[in-house]
Amino acid sequence: MNWLPKIGFEVFFVNEKQVAGEKAAEFIQNGMLVGLGTGSTVYYSIRRIAELVREGVHIVGVSTSKSTTELAQSLGIELVSINDIGCVDITIDGADEVDEDFNGIKGGGGALFFEKIVAHASKRVIWVVDSSKMVKRLGKSPLQIEVSPIGYKQVYSKLKLEGMGPVLRLISGKPFLTDSNNYIIDLHSAELNNPTKLAGWLKEIPGIIEHGLFINYVDQVIVGRGDSAEIISSTIRGG
Ligand code: A5P
Repeated sequence: MNWLPKIGFEVFFVNEKQVAGEKAAEFIQNGMLVGLGTGSTVYYSIRRIAELVREGVHIVGVSTSKSTTELAQSLGIELVSINDIGCVDITIDGADEVDEDFNGIKGGGGALFFEKIVAHASKRVIWVVDSSKMVKRLGKSPLQIEVSPIGYKQVYSKLKLEGMGPVLRLISGKPFLTDSNNYIIDLHSAELNNPTKLAGWLKEIPGIIEHGLFINYVDQVIVGRGDSAEIISSTIRGG
């Protein structure tokens, strides 16, 4: 987000999230099954998709969280459950960080488990981010993991022993509950030199439901830079 000077004494606010989010809606075509991500950037995509629907474009959405379900329904977007379809044509979602290899960290909003299920079922994945989210190497923001309340202290202790700086996410003094009634542990000092190796290691620990490393998931990243949107395609996914 930038403050840019305007002629005279006024300033106007350029919302890079809005620029990126709205641009992604240009990829929507009639008849598509569209994965609808979660967060404050994809909010703008969903709002724009709702406008397209009102203009006569027929799409059906696949939500990635309760909050997105509420938003989409309030805007009149028809939804279908991920359990009732084969695959999703395109998913638009936000991210907390994206590195130069198109790996990402997601889950700041706690929706990473559902988001990963929908992304994995998608033919094409687009992330919409403001320019602050683009990093050389992952690790600027905490890495989220979703853990089962059963035995979460075992997971916590192991991560602490490994020096990963685990913090159980709390809300009003109680564990934050995900849409699947699990807990979130934020890792503040996970070593992210090799995200693929770390992702594999985390998956081996019983009690970890999912982690926020999205390796090789995204086809295109739309970055809001000032008042324009830059589209970067992953060479790995051939997007
Ligand atoms: C939700 O759990 C997250 O994965 C979000 O998609 C991510 O945190 C990006 O959110 P913002 O667009 O609100 O920054």
